[in-house]
Amino acid sequence: MRIYILIAILFFTSLGLAQSQANYDESKVPKFTLPDVLTSFSGNPITNQTEWEENRRREILQFFEKQVYGKVPDRLDEYGFKLLEESNDAYGGKARRKQIAITLKKNKKTITYYMLIYLPKGNPTAPVFLGYNFYGNHTVTADPNVAITKAWVKNNEAFGITDNKASESSRGIRTHRWAIEKMLDNGFGLATIYYGEIDPDKNDFSDGVHSLFYRDGQTKPKTNEWGSISAWAFGLSKAMNYLESDVNISKVFVFGHSRLGKAALWAGATDKRFAGVISNNSGCGGAALSRRQFGETVAQINTSFPHWFADSFLKYDNNERTLPVDQHQLLALIAPRPLYIASAEEDKWADPKGEFLSTYYASSVYGLYGRKGITSKEMPKTNAPIQNTVAYHIRTGIHDVMDYDWENYIKWANTFVK
Ligand code: GCU
Repeated sequence: MRIYILIAILFFTSLGLAQSQANYDESKVPKFTLPDVLTSFSGNPITNQTEWEENRRREILQFFEKQVYGKVPDRLDEYGFKLLEESNDAYGGKARRKQIAITLKKNKKTITYYMLIYLPKGNPTAPVFLGYNFYGNHTVTADPNVAITKAWVKNNEAFGITDNKASESSRGIRTHRWAIEKMLDNGFGLATIYYGEIDPDKNDFSDGVHSLFYRDGQTKPKTNEWGSISAWAFGLSKAMNYLESDVNISKVFVFGHSRLGKAALWAGATDKRFAGVISNNSGCGGAALSRRQFGETVAQINTSFPHWFADSFLKYDNNERTLPVDQHQLLALIAPRPLYIASAEEDKWADPKGEFLSTYYASSVYGLYGRKGITSKEMPKTNAPIQNTVAYHIRTGIHDVMDYDWENYIKWANTFVK
């Protein structure tokens, strides 16, 4: 026990140290040339949708797949879901609630994870936001009927989580991050899953969805195979199998905050069934340009979270300029579907400017489809969203998800569901 506490203390101290030693000085951002999204790796200009989809999009996707997030090794043997619980009377009669178990099977091994869904009653087929939560479905709402996760959760004294087990004490502790009533009142539903049920967020590859795919004797994914972000994206994509089968659900906007905002982007890039993507404060390895080395860097993220990316990504530690891609190209993979990137003013670790510039440099691909992206390199003022097919805002405050963010996501998403 003591040794684990010591490891945890060392880990968080080194993370704090990394954050305090990071570069936050704009004048120290290295000079760099971004790889152009519309010029192929072999130097050919891309001028239309066909060339983009058949050549350029494919090569960028493959690069991210093998060299950044890591490939999903194989297909599942079986997929199933089961409705565990349902009510017509959630949120004072405003909403329907469903709790679904999703089971994935491979090599005779299974993993089950749980999706909580609220749907507005007035709308027979509602668009939904699909997003992972950090501590269990029971933390996003005070609703006493939501099942408490039995999976490993990170300890958190303030939430009463000890021994990596969630209990009643953490019910509703994250309601402020999920504006559920606002969603319902605007005709949207919410589908949410605890990310640790797909892959517990620790540097241990013996558990989670990875382990289903191992051959005899294998203990971790191969060099260019999936890290945790890719596994979480895979879980979202399999959740989409259920969502598209539910007659009460129309479009699905995949959403995520921070590390889960990175996973949402990768899910949106790899699965075109997501009608739109919203990535909140996703930072390094998410929306932020790696070459800026502002706030968190590739070397720092790979050191603090060695399980998030494919091992092949390690060769870009302190070596960003040799990356044939940058994160604006991840965003471009989502085109022409709606994409919203958001930053927070005090969240320097995630590099708000790098998150914004990514949206600008991805926009030429949206242009190929006649869709409006971000047209100026000038960052918008704080609390002044730009909402085109590519949208961006920076709000006041810290690294978090606030009502302000949801109000804007809902308003913007509404323009694509009418
Ligand atoms: C750390 C990490 C970030 C990540 C964040 C989060 O700060 O360095 O990359 O986005 O955790 O998920 O909250």
